[in-house]
Amino acid sequence: MELVVATRNKDKLREIKALLKELPVEIFSLDSFKGVPEVVEDGRTLEDNAIKKAVQVSRFLKKFTVADDSGLVVEYLNGDPGVCSARYSGEGATYKSNNEKLLRFLKGVPLAKRKACFKCVIAVADKGRVIGTAEGVCSGKICFTLKGDNGFGYDPIFIPDGCKKTFAEMDPARKNEISHRNKALAKTKKIISKYLSLCL
Ligand code: IMP
Repeated sequence: MELVVATRNKDKLREIKALLKELPVEIFSLDSFKGVPEVVEDGRTLEDNAIKKAVQVSRFLKKFTVADDSGLVVEYLNGDPGVCSARYSGEGATYKSNNEKLLRFLKGVPLAKRKACFKCVIAVADKGRVIGTAEGVCSGKICFTLKGDNGFGYDPIFIPDGCKKTFAEMDPARKNEISHRNKALAKTKKIISKYLSLCL
């Protein structure tokens, strides 16, 4: 069975492939197909965007598709950057400029008030129809400087609860054990397995 992951983000794809490796599916990203229209991520929530991507891509490719929308929610910033995590620092945003903006906005804020969580919503769709959605959350704190070179996005400034290291300082396999994406994918695997058993 073929499964399309509706992303061109190689960092996300690497994590999703590692986390789904025991499923009997062959995984492709959007880079394996020509002419897939860009999906505008203009939803109000991560769930809206994940569903929109999964539905549009699965309808266009006529293939079984999962789409992830994820972001960092910072309590002191009333939930920002949230659904705007990828483009937090505006046009041409990079992981570095997003991290720098976030640290600037938290300047002088003590550790106790730097609570944050990563959220990931995954939608599963087949031929334009939603099969299910799953959410995963990983809680932690925003540290004061960028630390570590692993991972991607906000990993260098996020310390998960119960840990001393940022996600970017951890071994990637350790991040995958505790991440928001892993939690969402554990639920997604159940949705996929149930759907495959119904289809077979
Ligand atoms: P999306 O492609 O719209 O889901 O954008 C999600 C953005 O949130 C990414 O560009 C990253 O900046 C951030 N993000 C999502 N998941 C992670 C993660 O696991 N680590 C660090 N940053 C993440």
